[in-house]
Amino acid sequence: MTAESRKLCTLEELPEGGCRGFSVPTSSGHEDIFLVHKNARIVAYRNSCPHTGVPLDWVPDQFLNLDGDLIQCSTHHALFRIEDGFCVSGPCAGQSLTPCPLRIDNGGVFLVLR
Ligand code: FES
Repeated sequence: MTAESRKLCTLEELPEGGCRGFSVPTSSGHEDIFLVHKNARIVAYRNSCPHTGVPLDWVPDQFLNLDGDLIQCSTHHALFRIEDGFCVSGPCAGQSLTPCPLRIDNGGVFLVLR
């Protein structure tokens, strides 16, 4: 049996270097997540800063620092590695974003629901 999943976007809609947020309907409400496409890899995390739990984006779909090499929280500017969500700087240094499982299938990016 395959796990239930929700289509987020197509690969064309998330070019290299891009990031995008989604509010995904689930059986218990919705889950706010975001995607980052970097170095030919797509990762997903819950849109919730480990410091206070607020969303990370300062305007919709803005999750990266100016150099585009780290995820940045807009509230107190914590910085997280894109590849594993580990916080390298800021008030929650040493903590991590919560990863979300993805499936890439037939040109689409899908969130796998738990
Ligand atoms: S809420 Fe993200 S760094 Fe404080």
